[in-house]
Amino acid sequence: MDAHRRAGQNTKPTAERHVPVLLSRSIQLLEPAISAAAAAGRTPVIVDATLGMGGHTEALLSRFPELTVVGLDRDTQALELAGARLAPFGDRVHLVHTEYDGIREALDGLGMESVDGVLFDLGVSSLQLDEVDRGFAYSFDAPLDMRMDTTTGITAAELVNTASLEELRRIIRTWGEEKFAHRIAHAIVQGREKTPFATTAQLVEVIRAAVPPAAGKSGGHPAKRTFQALRIAVNEELDVLTRAMPAAINAIGVGGRIVVLSYHSLEDKIVKHAFAEGLVSSAPAGFPVELDEHKPYLKSLVKGTGKPSEEEISDNPRAASAKLRAVERITERRAS
Ligand SMILES: C[S@@+](CC[C@H](N)C(=O)[O-])C[C@H]1O[C@@H](n2cnc3c(N)ncnc32)[C@H](O)[C@@H]1O
Repeated sequence: MDAHRRAGQNTKPTAERHVPVLLSRSIQLLEPAISAAAAAGRTPVIVDATLGMGGHTEALLSRFPELTVVGLDRDTQALELAGARLAPFGDRVHLVHTEYDGIREALDGLGMESVDGVLFDLGVSSLQLDEVDRGFAYSFDAPLDMRMDTTTGITAAELVNTASLEELRRIIRTWGEEKFAHRIAHAIVQGREKTPFATTAQLVEVIRAAVPPAAGKSGGHPAKRTFQALRIAVNEELDVLTRAMPAAINAIGVGGRIVVLSYHSLEDKIVKHAFAEGLVSSAPAGFPVELDEHKPYLKSLVKGTGKPSEEEISDNPRAASAKLRAVERITERRAS
């Protein structure tokens, strides 16, 4: 059985399954760091911290013939499909199964001290959403799983069947920004007493019954925000991202660049906060001189956030919520 069939019903070629977002802008932002390394006689290295279907990586490897890419993903299915797609690039690609906060250990394993850039394209891939069996989508009935790494951790079904009412309310309110969090959490706790949750359809039905019908008209699908919240909780997405940002900053050398594409405000807030620390002097107020160790260690490459064009959004609806932030490391001071 080939990789596409084993992955599920979707037999589209890998390259057609996920359209990379803000691709040319990301390449343009990483280009100076890649060219500077090549000009200094080094092999430039970029870490694609969210390899997915390998769309960004393939474009980078094609555009810069001297480049090596280290591709990370916590999803073994993504690594398998991207590995097949990127095979023509041979030893210019190294794939590592890890969460992206393990970037330092991944580079140590490859004997790489520092790299020239890191790209994060956060969130779920089209593969994960389209693969019915993975249980990420509220629009298909499937086992209620939602783990990006199916080799470890608890499933969304285990979470909704065991968390306390208060814990469920907090998850759905905070990570789903759902105003009916209390009603939904309550309905889940009542529902599981009758039948423990096993499928996405069961959960969608309970959520639909818990929210006022009029709420669905303006706020999209009634299960959308709860599914986002559970996915974030199951994968501990925001904790891992919070740890990954300083790890990525400390993994690039001076002149190295980081580009991050995020898709909701909770992710963007973490990225903004991590970069903000490096963009300002850490000299205590009233300190007469700014010592080197206090100087900002990052320079912002984008004013505010970069956004996709109308044209890109109409070609690729997934791009609609994308926000791009990018920085360059300008001193050796380390992120904490
Ligand atoms: C939006 S997709 C990336 C798509 C890719 N840029 C492309 O063009 O094909 C995000 C990928 O990041 C992975 N991912 C999400 N969180 C992760 C984490 N904490 N550590 C490692 N990989 C993660 C997901 O499994 C998914 O494959």
